[in-house]
Amino acid sequence: MADDLTITKTGTKKEQYQSLIPQIEALMYGEADQIANLANMCAALKEQFKWFWVGFYLVKNDELVLGPFQGPVACTRIKKGKGVCGASWAQQEILIVPDVDAFPGHIACASASKSEIVLPIFQGDTIIGVLDVDSEYLSHFDDVDAIYLNKIIKLLDV
Ligand code: SME
Repeated sequence: MADDLTITKTGTKKEQYQSLIPQIEALMYGEADQIANLANMCAALKEQFKWFWVGFYLVKNDELVLGPFQGPVACTRIKKGKGVCGASWAQQEILIVPDVDAFPGHIACASASKSEIVLPIFQGDTIIGVLDVDSEYLSHFDDVDAIYLNKIIKLLDV
């Protein structure tokens, strides 16, 4: 059974990720169900970082379909190449968007969202979904987020 998370309120963002990652690993230990693991990942990330929205979109029939998330209700389907999520999937790369209003084709699920980071989730060479994080602050995400969020989604590989 999972215990409460230990949330690090002090320390750098890097230190906060470093404290959270082993806890996410422990939450996933012995659990093979992907939805259960994605759901706990979102909950742990939301509890630590209090972001506006954090969640997964999963590839189904050549579309991204809303998966486990924490935050306000969101759009359910995104086509390849559309929005930041669809662009990350099509380009197969992490996208950091400091100002969503300056991103052509950004899909505004909520007007409060100002900046965003999206990471593709690979299973072998195939993208099975994306992790999307939204902030109500401009320029909220940087390479530290990209590096550590990528480590977190790689936990799904094992
Ligand atoms: N803004 C995203 C859509 C998903 S929501 O932010 C939760 C996009 O442009 O792909």
